[in-house]
Amino acid sequence: MQDLDTLEKDMVAAITGAADMQALEAARVAALGKKGQLTQLMRGLGQMDAEERQTVAPRLNQLKDALNDAVNERRTALNAAELEARLASEKIDVTLPVRPRPAGTIHPVSQVIDELTAVFADMGFEVAEGPDIEDDFHNFTALNIPPEHPARQMHDTFYFPEKDDGERLLLRTHTSPVQIRHMQAHKPPIRIIAPGRTYRCDSDQTHTPMFHQVEGLVIDKSTHMGHLKGCLEEFARSFFEIEDLRMRFRPSYFPFTEPSAELDIGCSYAGGELRIGEGDDWLEILGCGMVNPRVLDHVGIDPDTYQGFAFGMGIDRIAMLKYGIPDLRDMFDADMRWLRHYGFVPLDIPTLAGGLSR
Ligand code: PHE
Repeated sequence: MQDLDTLEKDMVAAITGAADMQALEAARVAALGKKGQLTQLMRGLGQMDAEERQTVAPRLNQLKDALNDAVNERRTALNAAELEARLASEKIDVTLPVRPRPAGTIHPVSQVIDELTAVFADMGFEVAEGPDIEDDFHNFTALNIPPEHPARQMHDTFYFPEKDDGERLLLRTHTSPVQIRHMQAHKPPIRIIAPGRTYRCDSDQTHTPMFHQVEGLVIDKSTHMGHLKGCLEEFARSFFEIEDLRMRFRPSYFPFTEPSAELDIGCSYAGGELRIGEGDDWLEILGCGMVNPRVLDHVGIDPDTYQGFAFGMGIDRIAMLKYGIPDLRDMFDADMRWLRHYGFVPLDIPTLAGGLSR
């Protein structure tokens, strides 16, 4: 019996000391498995005489129960410890933001295109598009700029090499050719804006060879200069988010509009800093006018029945004004630091109801 006590102690120690499930299983098999120590002893009962068996058998059964209990207890303890460890390692901090802020930002030019589209869409304008590579007719001739017209020199055009038939394609110097393409394809009434890239061979602090414009065109039977004024004043106030923005229309000249004007908005340059909507200075933001009847003739719209207005505005410029961006050239340098600083949060799409720039 003394042997059995030591044996029990050893086997229980192996079981309770098992560090993991594998060790526990090994200890269990060593004691209770087919070839386990206790199983061997039980087999030995058959060779005992009746009297000896009477005392040993109950002791072995008791030992078997004790070992089974020890195994179960250890298994429960190991399971609990394992769960505890998993809970600790898989812990999540529910106070962390659901998603980290995306690394990418919306470029101020894209943001401003979205903003001005929201303003004009609210006034019933559709968005139209045209190709960046244009022909002479759409970029110049149809806009009442014939071949020898001095306005052609003003535009510093990028030309492609001459084709076999002598035609020279070009990079559009303004978004006005989209007016022509749209009028060729659609009957009045027309009410469109056309934002897009434009190109001129020019580069300094306020000019880049590629820049952006937005064109506007309204054609109907009785559209007049008062509509042009009201529309652009409404646009400027909404876009700059300044209710009492001062504005003035100054007479100007464009071959494709007659009469023509430029729109200035009130600003201040005090202390070398430009502020919109303050002070007594003026800043030009766009060119506009009533569509020249010669342009309507070029696209087959009867100027005796239809009339309307057009305008063209530099997008990069108004983006710089609204968001205080000092140098135009930085806009197109793809510098990550600049983009992080001046960029906008994606999915924060401007709407009139939600506030354009927030
Ligand atoms: N296309 C002119 C420019 O690039 C702007 C403009 C458009 C003026 C429409 C009047 C009407 O300068």
